[in-house]
Amino acid sequence: MLALDQVLPPSATVTSEGHLAVGGCDLVELAEEHGTPLVVYDEGALRATARAFREAVARHAPGGEVVYASKAYFGLAMLRIVCEEGLSVDAASGGELYAALRAGFPPERIHLHGNNKDAGEIGAALDAGVGTVVVDNLDEIALLEREAARRGMVQRVLLRITPGVRPSTHSHIATGQSDSKFGFPLAARMAHAGVEAARRSPHLAFEGIHAHLGSQLFDLSVFRPAAQVLADFAVEIGAEDVTTVDIGGGLGIAYTAADRPPSVETFVETIAEAVHEAWRSRGLPLPRLVTEPGRAIAGRAGVTLYRVGGIKPIEGVRVYASVDGGMSDLLRPMLYGAVYEPLVANRADAEPTEVVRLVGKHCESSDVLVGEAHLPPLEVGDLVCLPATGAYGVSMASNYNGQPRPAVVFVDNGASRLVTRRETYADIVARDVL
Ligand code: LLP
Repeated sequence: MLALDQVLPPSATVTSEGHLAVGGCDLVELAEEHGTPLVVYDEGALRATARAFREAVARHAPGGEVVYASKAYFGLAMLRIVCEEGLSVDAASGGELYAALRAGFPPERIHLHGNNKDAGEIGAALDAGVGTVVVDNLDEIALLEREAARRGMVQRVLLRITPGVRPSTHSHIATGQSDSKFGFPLAARMAHAGVEAARRSPHLAFEGIHAHLGSQLFDLSVFRPAAQVLADFAVEIGAEDVTTVDIGGGLGIAYTAADRPPSVETFVETIAEAVHEAWRSRGLPLPRLVTEPGRAIAGRAGVTLYRVGGIKPIEGVRVYASVDGGMSDLLRPMLYGAVYEPLVANRADAEPTEVVRLVGKHCESSDVLVGEAHLPPLEVGDLVCLPATGAYGVSMASNYNGQPRPAVVFVDNGASRLVTRRETYADIVARDVL
């Protein structure tokens, strides 16, 4: 019924008044109640995708683990849901660790990530008793060893490797190649040195290797060569204690009606086959498989609602339509050239007969949310909905131009609940000292 069926949350419908509804809730009413910009998540969709990952891993890699990459969206209500669905969580900083603990995650299901963890972050993780630290470099091994020794602890670790394969995605979110700030490269045997250091330490328990290849991947063929490289590495270092292989996240989602991402099932089957085949062909016992999806869980479940303020037709040039948010709540179009396809939530059944440039309210010309938006003729006061904004939207939001970050509402089965209140102007200046 909707052109954006594969992009909107699966529960999206159009009401008899022509309003877009998600999770059984009318988005026009939600925007009136909570104001705009407003981020709305379909809780049922979040749970269903989390469960789909867990079930697919249980089928294709029994004993494996699904770790939600919380950088995609780390609201406490989201983390609580992910926890309830039985997933683990990837915290890439002290802040994400704090959020995971506040949401009630059992510490043993937390994986601490990051390419520059400081002593405070490592100390907090050790004090909390996190299950796994994914170590990134030799200096960090020394720091972790010191902090664990001080506490008389042994910390389980995975070593993050850059396998030297480049996935097909935007260069800003490709991480598998050797020329990367993340992890131990295989070049000059840096990764071998890392494993030796981890194995030598009486305060670290080396459990295996980690490699995240990139994000927003549609072409999954990169996992096969990456798994081969990792398996060769396991042979070189002696595979007895390589009991875990964490292949990272990366499954892409549809941002436009033309996008056809692989399913969760295909993704999990592909990574499991790639790793199992690589290990089996070298006669190695199969490792425990870990995957870290972020975007694929949070992305499609979330939409952002904006109110149209001004419409400016420039004769012979184009039409600009300004909305009440922009690069402060959705940086992806400006940072990666990401393309979104909006619709008008209060006239969701109207034909898109015009092309307008949808821009935000920020003092910067790059504040373009959608360069060429196909929409019905817009009016001031219309409610524009950008689908597929659930991942890396709110989590990358800023206060540029003193803009309060948006409120977040969860909807499910006709009920809605506010999970993050809108920021106030007082919040924005609260940390300043006069
Ligand atoms: N694991 C590690 C170690 C990662 O670095 C990432 C993402 C993930 C898992 C999750 O990847 P996902 O399943 O979400 O693709 N801000 C960018 C994305 C940055 C991804 C960073 N790392 C964007 O908006 O596209």
